[in-house]
Amino acid sequence: MDPKSPARLDDPLAPARETTVEMLVNRQRNVSLPQPFYNNARLFALDMQEIFEKEWLFAGMTCEIPAKGNYMTLDVGDNPVIIVRGDNGRIHAFHNVCRHRGSRLCVSDKGKVAKLVCPYHQWTYELDGRLLFAGSDMGENFDLTAYGLKPVQVKTGGGFIFISLSEEPPAVDDFLATLNHYLEPYDMENTKVAVESTIVEQANWKLVIENNRECYHCNGAHPELLNSLQEFDDTDDPRATPAYKALVAKKQADWDEQQVPWQLKRFGRRNRLTRTPLLDGTVSMTLDGKPACQKLMGRIESPDLGSLRILHLPNSWNHFLGDHAIVFRVLPLGPQQTLVTTKWLVHKDAVEGIDYQTETMRRVWDATNDQDRRLAEENQRGINSKAYEPGPYSETYEFGVIDFIDWYGERLLENLGHTAPHLNVVQG
Ligand code: FES
Ligand SMILES: [Fe+2]
Repeated sequence: MDPKSPARLDDPLAPARETTVEMLVNRQRNVSLPQPFYNNARLFALDMQEIFEKEWLFAGMTCEIPAKGNYMTLDVGDNPVIIVRGDNGRIHAFHNVCRHRGSRLCVSDKGKVAKLVCPYHQWTYELDGRLLFAGSDMGENFDLTAYGLKPVQVKTGGGFIFISLSEEPPAVDDFLATLNHYLEPYDMENTKVAVESTIVEQANWKLVIENNRECYHCNGAHPELLNSLQEFDDTDDPRATPAYKALVAKKQADWDEQQVPWQLKRFGRRNRLTRTPLLDGTVSMTLDGKPACQKLMGRIESPDLGSLRILHLPNSWNHFLGDHAIVFRVLPLGPQQTLVTTKWLVHKDAVEGIDYQTETMRRVWDATNDQDRRLAEENQRGINSKAYEPGPYSETYEFGVIDFIDWYGERLLENLGHTAPHLNVVQG
């Protein structure tokens, strides 16, 4: 018997696992999921165990912990995690749980420490997780080396930090190498968070991601965003017009000249990177389309780089512009509650009030986030009704949602130990 988790022997989720497998195997493709996927407490617990505790999650940016001793914390469901910069720039991640009696070790969102000291009885850990001090009462034979912090898998690419609570997380290195390549012009180590926001949406995390994966709703919902955003995903978008394709060709030639990568890349359905132009005449996601920051990122000389869009399932989408970048992190809090964190990044030497005004910079995405929050919350309220039944996705407008739901269904089934039924789509 595993002494750490005997509760799993009497797994209260066992019936939920069986029912979920059945629902996924019999699921009709290209329609929204059955109601329990969006509001059932046991199914939410399964999402946390099988998706959020097994996949790679976007946690934060390397620039947020620039020096030795800088740390950040986050909660993956019931699992508090700490990410800390140690010696030689190395980034470590641990379960933020003291090995004495289990207290949470670091209680702030961010900070800087010389050592990790538990606030309860002051057990003290090195930044690499080794236990250094456990008081004087533990006896001579107490083996400090047996009580190091439990590691969490951590990898970085292009300034992004990903963590996985799994001991055998899925392969991700190709995506990270591509991130390094695509983010090279931005010199992400030399950026900083200009401002950040956190909002709690009263909606299941999948509704938050679904909403982000389509722009079918943009026309009716996002006047500020549509001052600069093109509604088309790329030139393969079934709606792409000849004028849009001509603009893309012109911009791609400019980007080639500046050695800025733009090609569409996919890693299964989990990751997608592509650079798309903004509306002609605009260069940034601001109300007037002008740069929000006068000091451009990295080696960038022209702000006219469109938007490098980066998707990471299950929990992040991002826009990289020439003058600033916006990164988004989604963390489920409950079956109908989700935390969305947005960070606006600029060159680390850009000066607030001189090079940029945070109010100007954040305005479009503050408005857009709030509009999306309402949409997701209204979606949740309708889904909770006994009248709800799965409805059809449009292949023209909602292909991104179809991809997300296929990814989710496939991962959940596989992580539950089943093979996904053959999906009639080409693996990207
Ligand atoms: S629980 Fe951390 S020192 Fe006691
Ligand atoms: Fe939206």
